[in-house]
Amino acid sequence: MAQQPAIRFRQAAVDDLAAILAIQDQAAAAPWSGRQWRDSLESHSVTLLDVNGTVAGYAVVASVLDERELLNIAVMPAQQGQGLGGILLDRCLAKDGTGAVRMLLEVRSGNQSAIALYRSRGFVKAGIRKGYYPAGAGREDAWVMVYEFQ
Ligand SMILES: CC(C)(COP(=O)(O)OP(=O)(O)OC[C@H]1O[C@@H](n2cnc3c(N)ncnc32)[C@H](O)[C@@H]1OP(=O)(O)O)[C@@H](O)C(=O)NCCC(=O)NCCS
Repeated sequence: MAQQPAIRFRQAAVDDLAAILAIQDQAAAAPWSGRQWRDSLESHSVTLLDVNGTVAGYAVVASVLDERELLNIAVMPAQQGQGLGGILLDRCLAKDGTGAVRMLLEVRSGNQSAIALYRSRGFVKAGIRKGYYPAGAGREDAWVMVYEFQ
């Protein structure tokens, strides 16, 4: 019988930047600079998903009063499609559910797997930002999605 992976979460620190960038290099369509990551590590909640002792994903959540914003989430491509993104998002929603009213995010309108993930967790489309993202020679819309904490 296949062994269950050992899944752990922890808050990222500056020492984790190399592991974060290794995932970002492979997974992210619009990578953040080292400076953006350092600012995020100082100002926001950066949760790491560790599978069998190796960092497999990250999620960045900003808090402003009773609102949360999911600024970034990614899973190592080789480990995508196995439920890990859902586990990581569930963790963010559980952790940020104390006192928060809603969680917002922006996602490229063509990012099917991310939109499927957000919908599966109860996020709904709340608006469109036309041409928000650069995309090759053109622009791509952003969907604003919202999750209401009960
Ligand atoms: C978005 C991302 C984090 C999802 O991680 P993942 O580990 O593949 O997600 P999961 O395996 O937990 O799938 C979550 C849900 O999305 C759906 N899903 C995942 N990949 C999918 C795909 N390629 N097509 C359709 N649906 C998909 C699954 O049905 C699943 O729903 P379920 O939990 O009800 O079964 C991952 O694809 C990623 O890192 N993408 C690159 C970075 C990115 O685009 N981040 C989002 C920026 S807004």
